[in-house]
Amino acid sequence: MLNIGIDIGGTKIAGGVVSADGSILDRIRVDTPTDTDELAAAVGDMVRHFRETHDVTAVGVAAAGFLDRTRSVMRHAPNIDWVEHPLRSELEARAGIAVTLENDANAAGWAEYRFGAGRGTSDMIMLTLGTGVGGAVIIDGQLLIGGRGAAGELGHVRFERDGRPCGCGLRGCLEQYASGRALQREAADLADDPELGAGLAGVRDAGGTIHGDAISRLILAGDPGALEALRRVATALGETAGGFQAAFDPEIFVIGGGVAQLGETLLAPVRERYRASLPGGENAAGADFAIATLGNDAGLIGVADLAGGR
Ligand code: BGC
Ligand code: NA
Ligand code: ZN
Repeated sequence: MLNIGIDIGGTKIAGGVVSADGSILDRIRVDTPTDTDELAAAVGDMVRHFRETHDVTAVGVAAAGFLDRTRSVMRHAPNIDWVEHPLRSELEARAGIAVTLENDANAAGWAEYRFGAGRGTSDMIMLTLGTGVGGAVIIDGQLLIGGRGAAGELGHVRFERDGRPCGCGLRGCLEQYASGRALQREAADLADDPELGAGLAGVRDAGGTIHGDAISRLILAGDPGALEALRRVATALGETAGGFQAAFDPEIFVIGGGVAQLGETLLAPVRERYRASLPGGENAAGADFAIATLGNDAGLIGVADLAGGR
């Protein structure tokens, strides 16, 4: 059985034809149009193209944002101009076939649970560290949707009281401290530090931006400013993960998104803060931490699998 999975990102729409074992047989990537009509048309074109070339059963589409419980309406979204937007019917009209909608991080978490780093567990939390911070909660082998559909929005759990403003309207959300953007922001702040900033200041581009790749290189080279930026991100992640442990008791946390490319260099300080944030201290039973294995394909693989049903 083949299913189509499409992941609508802030900059790219990634689509693939996915088999029952989670492998991708064919794929397309296009730029994400800013206009929502054009975006829906692009998704429709992709679906029609795949259906002409493959014998496809079901179609799933993943996107960042708060979906309603019936997975029909995108209530609000961080990167795309959707407010109370009837996304499912719009995409179905364009594609000419039923569409299963899911939150991007939920879809990615589902893929890691079925085919990736969370395989073999029954209780798993995924955190995606990209432009934002996404979350997925899988309990007893089921993806948690929530009473209004917005369970698993773990990036909008508070890390700091009266902290940095967030796109969701609150302040101090984890997303503002542990996303790829947050790492860049910490790095930019630290670049001005007279003791720690020399390395970071040296990789600022003409516009003053420090790119994620440059930060990663400095971290891996042991630059003190870059390591301090990482320590701050790891602190936010580890401390909130301690709270997620108390709430959901997962067996494993799977960490994905661009920042997760740091691998153990990220996980080691996260584990340390996490252990110190567990209720019960030394005696607490904690979870494992692992890096996601499906990379940027997780969203489209997961939503294809969800669309196919089980
Ligand atoms: C959004 C989530 C999304 C995450 C990752 C957050 O800002 O609220 O819906 O999963 O970013 O894209
Ligand atoms: Na989510
Ligand atoms: Zn927020």
